[in-house]
Amino acid sequence: MPSTISIEHGAAIPSGLDDDVLIAIGVRQGQLETDAPDVVAAFAAASGFEGKVGQTLLTSSGESARLLVGLGEEPKASDFRKIGAAIGTASLKSPAVVADVLEALEPADRVVAASALAQGLILGTYRFDEYQATPESVKLNEALIVAKGGAKVGAAVAQGVEIAEAVAFARDMVNMPGGDLIPKEFANRAVAAGKAAGLDVEVWDKAAIKKAKLGGLLGVNKGSAQEPRLVIMRHNPEGKAKGKVALVGKGLTFDAGGLSIKPAGSMETMKNDMGGGAAVIGAMLLVPLLAPKLEVTAFIPMTDNMLGGDAMRVGDVLTARNGKTMEVLNTDAEGRLILSDALSLAAEEKPDAILDAATLTGACMVALGDRMAGVMGNNEELVQRVLASAQDQGELAWHLPLPEHLRSTIDSDIADLRNIATKPFGGSLTAGLFLQEFVDGIPWVHLDIAGPAFSSAAWDETTKGGTGYGVRTIAGVLASWSKLSAS
Ligand code: BES
Ligand code: MN
Ligand code: ZN
Repeated sequence: MPSTISIEHGAAIPSGLDDDVLIAIGVRQGQLETDAPDVVAAFAAASGFEGKVGQTLLTSSGESARLLVGLGEEPKASDFRKIGAAIGTASLKSPAVVADVLEALEPADRVVAASALAQGLILGTYRFDEYQATPESVKLNEALIVAKGGAKVGAAVAQGVEIAEAVAFARDMVNMPGGDLIPKEFANRAVAAGKAAGLDVEVWDKAAIKKAKLGGLLGVNKGSAQEPRLVIMRHNPEGKAKGKVALVGKGLTFDAGGLSIKPAGSMETMKNDMGGGAAVIGAMLLVPLLAPKLEVTAFIPMTDNMLGGDAMRVGDVLTARNGKTMEVLNTDAEGRLILSDALSLAAEEKPDAILDAATLTGACMVALGDRMAGVMGNNEELVQRVLASAQDQGELAWHLPLPEHLRSTIDSDIADLRNIATKPFGGSLTAGLFLQEFVDGIPWVHLDIAGPAFSSAAWDETTKGGTGYGVRTIAGVLASWSKLSAS
């Protein structure tokens, strides 16, 4: 776990370091002569080291080893996630690494960069090896970030560590196999992490879910031998709150598709179908730290989507918490069914805004690729805030529309809504239009994270497998919360 990593703040490279401690030195592109120590500059040039962002070169100058790290031509704070990840991965075999890479930035940028650097160090070296008999991975041991800039830079490093740990929590949840992270287990882990972060956490079991008439969640759960759960996490600053936001995350612990079963290949990564729930829990863990004065409530419906003997049938009609009926014409479009109840519950709290995250549609990956979330909503200002936060946090996101002309394609002949559109076009948009029916006109944004929740390759500080996508974007929106202008 990343918590074993200690990242401290100091003003200069400490003296008397052991020989095997790695010292990472930032080198701007085109400034090798100035930035690299004299003894290694010629070697670096001969080795093709140019100082591009995240490029590394291990050198030894007789004393401690030096790791040259490229900062690019004009170092930007946002590049330091990638730079941190590069330093972290290059120093896995060292007992410790001292990173001296922030000096090239303007003092004002060092605070943001320090947090990004800490995040990159931890997240770039994240490994999920709990299931390996002999874990082959080596972990980052200790990292010391040295920089001038005083207490603010130190606090930013500490905050970056907290943020990274919340992202790592979400990654762990996604990486756990669906047969182990059953709804009950997912809920237990949300309780443990939530309580440790100072949140109130409530768990509804099947009886409570029935009592609350969560017909979408119960319908999807019918094919499963595992009981569903609904987790509610709250942060309430009592009386001092400057606003109220509700979060909703899809917690589908394994998506086999139900009777509309998925082909084998499409099922391979379907343990990731609780990635939205994990992102929302991860963001909640950061609320006491980053948005202490905001009232935030999160709803995470949890079930798997299986094919047991009494699985919901194609053509069944479910009644959601808000009374709307949903005809199930494809049991694999189950995310919107469980979200209908959770969004209804969120709307009942009458929050200023609702944000949801869900691995909702393969169509979103067709449209935007596998690294980018689709962002839809009923309030332009809120959409823009989410896009801006994603940009700040280095998470890729793109605005998609909720076209009025597609709304009639989710009208049902016998119920209020059908769960797949009559036409195969714009699958992410019709899913978004479906969700919109449950937010009661409250400003709302939906993040379709089907692509970025899981990665088939490592890049920047993203590692293979669960990515924890969305934790930082959502936390960023909450951290800078102010009332939306009336629309
Ligand atoms: N969980 C899937 C969406 C998904 C696909 C997430 C790929 C991550 C990666 C969702 O429940 C689903 O099966 N959606 C269907 C909807 C269709 C039946 C309308 C899909 O995308 O095929
Ligand atoms: Mn599905
Ligand atoms: Zn799903």
